[in-house]
Amino acid sequence: MFGRSAIRGGFRPENLGQNALTLIGNIGFSLFVFGVLIFTIIAATYEPEDPLFHPSDKITTFLTSTSNATLRSDDSVVKTGEDFMVANQTAFAEFINITDVEATNTNETTSQEEANQLECDVNTPIDCKDQEVFHLMMRATIEKFKDIHFYKFGKPVVGEGVNSCDMAWRYRPKDGKSAAFYKDYRRFVVGKSENCSLSVVGIGEYHSGLNARKRKKNQKAGFEKTGGKKDDFSLPVVGELVNDSLPMVESDSVFKSGKYLVYVGGGDRCKSMNHFLWSFLCALGEAQYLNRTLVMDLTLCLSSIYTSSGQNEEGKDFRFYFDFEHLKEAASVLDEVQFWAKWGKLHKKRRNRLTLHLVEDFRVTPMKLAAVKDTMIMRKFGSVEPDNYWYRVCEGDAESVVKRPWHLLWKSRRLMEIVSAIASRLNWDYDAVHIERGDKARNKELWPNLETDTSPSALLSTLQDKVEEGRHLYIATNEEELSFFNPLKDKYATHFLYDYKDLWDENSEWYSETTKLNGGNPVEFDGYMRASVDTEVFLRGKKQIETFNNLTNDCKDGVGTCNAATS
Ligand SMILES: *[C@@H]1O[C@H](CO)[C@@H](O)[C@H](O)[C@H]1NC(C)=O
Ligand SMILES: *[C@@H]1O[C@H](CO)[C@@H](O)[C@H](O)[C@H]1NC(C)=O
Ligand SMILES: *[C@@H]1O[C@H](CO)[C@@H](O)[C@H](O)[C@H]1NC(C)=O
Ligand SMILES: *[C@@H]1O[C@H](CO)[C@@H](O)[C@H](O)[C@H]1NC(C)=O
Ligand SMILES: *[C@@H]1O[C@H](CO)[C@@H](O)[C@H](O)[C@H]1NC(C)=O
Ligand SMILES: *[C@@H]1O[C@H](CO)[C@@H](O)[C@H](O)[C@H]1NC(C)=O
Ligand SMILES: *[C@@H]1O[C@H](CO)[C@@H](O)[C@H](O)[C@H]1NC(C)=O
Ligand SMILES: *[C@@H]1O[C@H](CO)[C@@H](O)[C@H](O)[C@H]1NC(C)=O
Repeated sequence: MFGRSAIRGGFRPENLGQNALTLIGNIGFSLFVFGVLIFTIIAATYEPEDPLFHPSDKITTFLTSTSNATLRSDDSVVKTGEDFMVANQTAFAEFINITDVEATNTNETTSQEEANQLECDVNTPIDCKDQEVFHLMMRATIEKFKDIHFYKFGKPVVGEGVNSCDMAWRYRPKDGKSAAFYKDYRRFVVGKSENCSLSVVGIGEYHSGLNARKRKKNQKAGFEKTGGKKDDFSLPVVGELVNDSLPMVESDSVFKSGKYLVYVGGGDRCKSMNHFLWSFLCALGEAQYLNRTLVMDLTLCLSSIYTSSGQNEEGKDFRFYFDFEHLKEAASVLDEVQFWAKWGKLHKKRRNRLTLHLVEDFRVTPMKLAAVKDTMIMRKFGSVEPDNYWYRVCEGDAESVVKRPWHLLWKSRRLMEIVSAIASRLNWDYDAVHIERGDKARNKELWPNLETDTSPSALLSTLQDKVEEGRHLYIATNEEELSFFNPLKDKYATHFLYDYKDLWDENSEWYSETTKLNGGNPVEFDGYMRASVDTEVFLRGKKQIETFNNLTNDCKDGVGTCNAATS
């Protein structure tokens, strides 16, 4: 047991959980690795008034923990914080229209054109930095993509060869339902006629303008209606380069003055991802309530329900699934490995007075810990389920005090990149249907009608008055046999996640980036990722038809649960 001597006398690794133990084993090594450490703590205040985030009660009905120890969730739909954000439309109102571009254009171009005419040399390469070229490209872009609203254009840069320029822009589909911006960058071919007048001859595919991708430091603002407004972090921007490097500890003194919370052990590992989130967000919520930095374990165990091997798989990274960049910017978190390295080093010196407060009973409420002054509060969880689930800390009286900060948890932007690539290939102009089958369709006791209601003939008749014939229809489904839906092809242009597997196969950017993140080892595009992407593509459809409510009258969580958890 973790006696008082352990707390006072020194750091006794044998008293910690398995994970902490391996970490501490690495401390000696880590000390060399983390030479210069930077620590970024952004004030982690929870602001329920954020106009961009009105947590609806949908979140609580989406995941429901009805008794103290059960967690009910639907694993075929994967929603996270950003899906529950209600966008303040004023954030999207200021888009650039063609008249804005023309207004800033007139005087300059006339003089440019005159100059061009005077010394017209058809063979000089196109100058991508030229204002006229910039305006020409913006106009061509706005005219080509009629269903898109543009918010920012970056200055063009040289593409490939003498007549191509790359340009990036921030956009959003005109009828966009989700609260997010997207970034695209494409390669333009600019033609020059005999009298040297310029025109855009061609615009490349989605994300073809690689040279315009990186946002350069000190780059003069391109073109924006409101002019150089600073990015806040309240809205995701899909398509920007991801930098989810681990936050660093700035110095020993910053570390010593910090206050930390860590959860150790427990029965949450290898459970469903929703169970993990329900628990993780409880820990994060408690850390925020206590104004402490959460020391978190970025390694996950992926439950067998999502793996192709059918086994639980250790060694997954939080960042495969979630946007750690957003989390570290918006909250105060620190990676366990670094934390223990620093702690181990500083704890040796008595004068540092790093103190540990150990809590081994989840019934000790967060409120009781508010007055604790120790450097670290460690909650240690035992081995008896369900009393060793982290989320039990947030039950009972704590429920009304500790709020789960859902707005901090967004999906990995590398996954969202796949989502926006799919939506772009469909020109953001498609309807979507979610067809849940799998285990539920086989379970006639709890879902008596689901199987027949989602059969091709039933689908054809239900969709008839919901989706126009000939539309692009994205089908998000957990049905493994996709040929099952062949009858729908007569009426709709059907699309499935698997049609886009080039976006995560060996030649994809996702593959190379996750491989790099994973120390050179390829990462499987697993079941949880598939459900994440499927869900988000579904949510971007113009019409969204859900299984429960729209296709069947069966209840989402089985017979008799319709009032408890419909979404
Ligand atoms: C949206 O944001 C603007 C300022 O950015 C604010 O004035 C307005 O009240 C907000 N609207 C809603 C519905 O929150
Ligand atoms: C849940 O926990 C509370 C106190 O922690 C207890 O009073 C209650 O009986 C528990 N409910 C169930 C269903 O176990
Ligand atoms: C462009 O902006 C002008 C003024 O801001 C507005 O009058 C016009 O309707 C806008 N055009 C479009 C297509 O939105
Ligand atoms: C164009 O030039 C005229 C005078 O030369 C000036 O009054 C006008 O404001 C200018 N327009 C723009 C959009 O710069
Ligand atoms: C230059 O040539 C193009 C066609 O090649 C023509 O459309 C344009 O009007 C010409 N411009 C001038 C200023 O003569
Ligand atoms: C990522 O961000 C960290 C600071 O959070 C910075 O030190 C690092 O250089 C960045 N990496 C890249 C590749 O931009
Ligand atoms: C956390 O900080 C806020 C604002 O600084 C303060 O109001 C609150 O009482 C603090 N909470 C605890 C548990 O210390
Ligand atoms: C799906 O069902 C919901 C809830 O009953 C309803 O609001 C929505 O309009 C339906 N969607 C379609 C496309 O019929």
